[in-house]
Amino acid sequence: MQCRGESLQWNSGCQHPQRCPLRALKLLFYSRSGQSSRWIEALHQALPGAEIRLYGEATSDWQADYALLWQPPPELLRSQRRLRGIFNLGAGVDALLANPGLPEEVPIYKLRDAGMAAWMLDYIRYGLLHFGRDMDRYREQQRLRCWQPREIGHRAQWPVGVLGLGALGSEIAAALSVEGYSVSGWSRTPKSIPGVDCYAGETTLAPFLSRCRVLVSILPATVDTRHLLNLERLQRLPEGAVVISCGRGEVLDSQALLALLDSHHLRGALLDVFEQEPLPTDSPLYDNERLIITPHISAPTPIEGAIEQIVEGIGRLESGAPLPAVDRQRGY
Ligand SMILES: NC(=O)c1ccc[n+]([C@@H]2O[C@H](COP(=O)([O-])OP(=O)(O)OC[C@H]3O[C@@H](n4cnc5c(N)ncnc54)[C@H](OP(=O)(O)O)[C@@H]3O)[C@@H](O)[C@H]2O)c1
Repeated sequence: MQCRGESLQWNSGCQHPQRCPLRALKLLFYSRSGQSSRWIEALHQALPGAEIRLYGEATSDWQADYALLWQPPPELLRSQRRLRGIFNLGAGVDALLANPGLPEEVPIYKLRDAGMAAWMLDYIRYGLLHFGRDMDRYREQQRLRCWQPREIGHRAQWPVGVLGLGALGSEIAAALSVEGYSVSGWSRTPKSIPGVDCYAGETTLAPFLSRCRVLVSILPATVDTRHLLNLERLQRLPEGAVVISCGRGEVLDSQALLALLDSHHLRGALLDVFEQEPLPTDSPLYDNERLIITPHISAPTPIEGAIEQIVEGIGRLESGAPLPAVDRQRGY
């Protein structure tokens, strides 16, 4: 998009920031996951006229127009009394919505994909190959010094079910279908995605689960999704099924998962997200050889993609155009 000065159509290649009405904006930045200097530098490049402050550098009387935040301290939110919007620097808003300092009336905007779907797709591909090409079994054979080739199953024999067909899930489900997997997806409201057999609503969850040899969870953490994958529902997966969890840990009842691994109903799981993070060192999940555990790394926020989306979003808001906000009641 090309900047046209007063038109508020603004982008990182703006040639005349002195005429751009966005130049006077005040932005407050905070990210608990680090890399603040890279974010600030990229923000200055994208919005050369704006006043951008890192939390900690801003004095208590300095009030921002917008806050760009990842897991901010409650005091930050309480100290800002003139915010027109909060941009959440990720796709998951559960932590922000649970923040006791969050003002009720300020709209929250979250990132939609911004490059995260590609990262997460790679992560899921790894899980599909790990189990689909029997790497878990070859590891065990290696331990036993056993030389035993196994027949390769066609991708179509690995029906994949994607829970959550939002910005990430819909893209990932469509891509896996193109790659030859038989893909179904489940969401709250009906969807139509080329190559994907779409299910919607609680009543369709049982038939959806019964056809998944690989269950991929990309659901947000909300009141409604907490322990959605409980013992009863996980038991509906076919014997030998695999779980890949990269949405939020709260969705999966890990005790139920362990029980079904022990009973050999489930073959294994690739877990990126947990109810408590970091996963406590005494968690029994670490000890299970059929689990692969990663520390919430499947889809970090790409700085450039995020800033492009935020700048575009602020431009829309400042020009009075609509920008979909997070539904606080639904929790995502
Ligand atoms: N591990 C990581 O590194 C990482 C990185 C990024 C994101 N995430 C997680 O991934 C989640 C999904 O991201 P996103 O951008 O795709 O979110 P999104 O666009 O908000 O999509 C959420 C999806 O979940 C569905 N959903 C929510 N509640 C449901 C319910 N009760 N029953 C059925 N479906 C329900 C929604 O259904 P409708 O479409 O019908 O509303 C939607 O399809 C985020 O919330 C975040 O927690 C993890």
